[in-house]
Amino acid sequence: MTFTFTRNKTGKRTDDDNEQLEELDRELSEQPDEDTQAMVAEAQTEKGSEYDWRGVGGENRDEIPVKATIMLRERSRKLLGDLLRPYRKLIALLVVVVVLENGARLAIPYLVKVGIDSGIPPLIADNKVSKLIDVVVALAVCAIVQALARVTFLQMSGRIGQDILLVLRQRVFKHFQKLSLSFHEKYTSGRVISRQTSDVDAIYELLSNGFDGLVSAVLTLVGTSVLLLVLDVRLGLVALISFPILMVLTVWFRKNATRVYRKTRESVAAVIVHFVESMQGIKAVQAFRREPRNAEIFAAVNDDYRAANLESMRLIAVFMPSIKMVGNITIAVVLFFGGYLAFHGSVTVGVLAAFLLYLRQFFEPLQDISQFYNTFQSASAALEKLSGVLEEEPSVREPVGDAAVDLGRARGELTFDRTEFSYIPEKAVLPALDLEIPAGQTVALVGATGAGKTTMAKLVSRFYDPTSGSVALDGVDLRSLDELTLRRNVVMVTQENFLFSGTVADNIRFGRPDASQEEIEHAARAIGAHEFIMELPNGYDTQVSKRGGRLSAGQRQLVAFARAFLADPAVLILDEATSSLDVPSERLVQRALRTILKERTAIIIAHRLSTVEIADRVLVMEQGRIIEDGSPRELVADHGRYADLHLAWEESLA
Ligand SMILES: Nc1ncnc2c1ncn2[C@@H]1O[C@H](COP(=O)(O)OP(=O)(O)OP(=O)(O)O)[C@@H](O)[C@H]1O
Ligand SMILES: [Mg+2]
Repeated sequence: MTFTFTRNKTGKRTDDDNEQLEELDRELSEQPDEDTQAMVAEAQTEKGSEYDWRGVGGENRDEIPVKATIMLRERSRKLLGDLLRPYRKLIALLVVVVVLENGARLAIPYLVKVGIDSGIPPLIADNKVSKLIDVVVALAVCAIVQALARVTFLQMSGRIGQDILLVLRQRVFKHFQKLSLSFHEKYTSGRVISRQTSDVDAIYELLSNGFDGLVSAVLTLVGTSVLLLVLDVRLGLVALISFPILMVLTVWFRKNATRVYRKTRESVAAVIVHFVESMQGIKAVQAFRREPRNAEIFAAVNDDYRAANLESMRLIAVFMPSIKMVGNITIAVVLFFGGYLAFHGSVTVGVLAAFLLYLRQFFEPLQDISQFYNTFQSASAALEKLSGVLEEEPSVREPVGDAAVDLGRARGELTFDRTEFSYIPEKAVLPALDLEIPAGQTVALVGATGAGKTTMAKLVSRFYDPTSGSVALDGVDLRSLDELTLRRNVVMVTQENFLFSGTVADNIRFGRPDASQEEIEHAARAIGAHEFIMELPNGYDTQVSKRGGRLSAGQRQLVAFARAFLADPAVLILDEATSSLDVPSERLVQRALRTILKERTAIIIAHRLSTVEIADRVLVMEQGRIIEDGSPRELVADHGRYADLHLAWEESLA
């Protein structure tokens, strides 16, 4: 089993160390030693059973019940069919090529028989060589046909296989990208990587080796058996006595291999998941000195993987030589019995030679068939998981065709109409929210941790849809808003700012790929990022390494601000977007914000009240409800929650 780590750019995970550690801890603590699968697929457990039967819901039940393994489930069949369909004709041609190759191969021992029995006697008796030459020519032709067929097969199947993989990887990537945030919040990136690497590889194995092995094996087994019986029934029956023994061996191997290979797949998945999670959380891991514990866990999953591989090797180490031994003993028995028959003149030497040559070929495919079974199992598990992912639909669906409203540039009026939302059914995060935000207003959202501020922002950005009620932009329900209109008009800047590998300029240009260098600089200046960018080694052309490692958190925020400013949305949401800035930088951003926010609607979520002062209106949130609503001045005068917060803040400054 091979797998490779490809570069993964899923920026779904937060940089925030605490969150990261929590997540890591949860994942690690949920990892029972023997049942690593639970860890690999921990995410579904929260969702109800109504969720289990489709999409990725069944993934943690690892694959398919043992009995059903030779039959692919419908969706896997459909996926495989989809992948193969465009190549129907070529595949049919491939089958012809394989049949041709096997035909040529099976003809060779027979020609040897003809050569010995009918080619050599005339040569010895009358010095006539023509018959032998005929046979030799035929042999050469068969050998060439076999080789050419093999070459053709390898090239063609290689090309088809790679083409299919290309399509599959493309499809999986696009699909993962399309799936809503709610999916990515529960599907760990280790699993995403497994889907794109080891699963795709397993399918390739099936396409490149599996089918070829199976077709050749069946043709060889059936063809050889028939030929043996045709050549000489008695000798054929003697040779075929080994068949039941081989069957028993094969059944034994298959049974154990099913279990062992399943273990191998599970443990390799655990290794990948643990590796990816640890490396993604490396900051938290190092900060909290988790290395020893992590190494311990890794050692455990790694050891499981080793043990599983070892077991499979042991199995093969018993199976393969056993098959060989049975084969060789059969050859010995046939030679003995054949010699006896030849002595009595009832079998020719040629037949005996052909027999021995056939027998040598006869036992190899059994190994192929057992191998095919494993390949097929891995591939069917992979198909099952991939088709599950592909079956997942974005929970936030784009409106189709005429239903999609294109607002062009929106005014920026937001309306929450009895908006209810919950991540999990039992626990409402926003219970029936009613709220009007007129176009152009700057609203500050304050409230305790967990009050639902980010959730509200996610609803406005339509990362989620409300459970009931609606959120509307300029009076149009977000659900019927054209995707492009929505993304152009609503932009959210959060505290986790992911920078993609590329230059600083590329990162600012992210929301508007056609922006010119001047526009980029203008945006950076407006937000106060120009100075620090100019101090970078290559200014705007500085490559930010993975995750923006070369920029500080505050600098990343400034880049994200410039990105948002350049995108010029009608609605701008800042979720703790200035939390990493020092006081002077924050002041700078605030000054910039006054101008930036003038011509757009803004929702500013901030714990630091300094940011709140520029707002026209403050909403105080508590457990998903808005408990205070007014201008900052009014609220201070009201002596409510906001006044308390404000007082505490002023005292902290003094
Ligand atoms: N993806 C999620 N799945 C399940 N529950 C979630 C998810 N995200 C948030 N929650 C829950 O929803 C509630 C509101 O979270 P939210 O992120 O909106 O809080 P917040 O007001 O932004 O808090 P903070 O000030 O800490 O950012 C919390 O109780 C949180 O546990
Ligand atoms: Mg929040």
